[in-house]
Amino acid sequence: MPSPSEKESLVRKYDAIASAYATHYRDPAAVARRHVALLARWGRRLDPGATVLELGCADGLVTEALAQAGFRVTAVDLSPAMIEAARRRLDRAGLGAKLLVADIDEFETSATFDAVLAMMRNFFHYSSDPSSTV
Ligand SMILES: C[S@@+](CC[C@H](N)C(=O)[O-])C[C@H]1O[C@@H](n2cnc3c(N)ncnc32)[C@H](O)[C@@H]1O
Repeated sequence: MPSPSEKESLVRKYDAIASAYATHYRDPAAVARRHVALLARWGRRLDPGATVLELGCADGLVTEALAQAGFRVTAVDLSPAMIEAARRRLDRAGLGAKLLVADIDEFETSATFDAVLAMMRNFFHYSSDPSSTV
């Protein structure tokens, strides 16, 4: 587990890139669609209205697509600037999600969720059949 000072430097790193985070993807919308499709089809089938906890949501690129697909999303990120960017993104789209600045090492909730999503960039884009990976 990262030390407190490593966590602080993670926050500085992600705060600094928050405003342009999604632009590091060549096609951000395709990435978001792909993540939603993975969530909806991988494992138990999820229908609109299902509750999703998204860990490390960054600037809300996928959060927005999940909300657009009808999921009730709680999204968590360590970086306040990422959560701020996610708030702006969701507001622009006229969508709702619960957005929280929190460290997943300490995050506690009494809520239950139908699915938990923790995507780290686009690793599963390289798999032609991600559901067979695990
Ligand atoms: C590589 S980005 C991935 C973001 C997004 N899920 C994606 O796939 O593009 C990692 C994100 O996780 C967040 N993060 C890192 N450590 C965290 C922690 N301990 N708790 C919550 N979020 C964390 C960072 O602030 C950053 O926004």
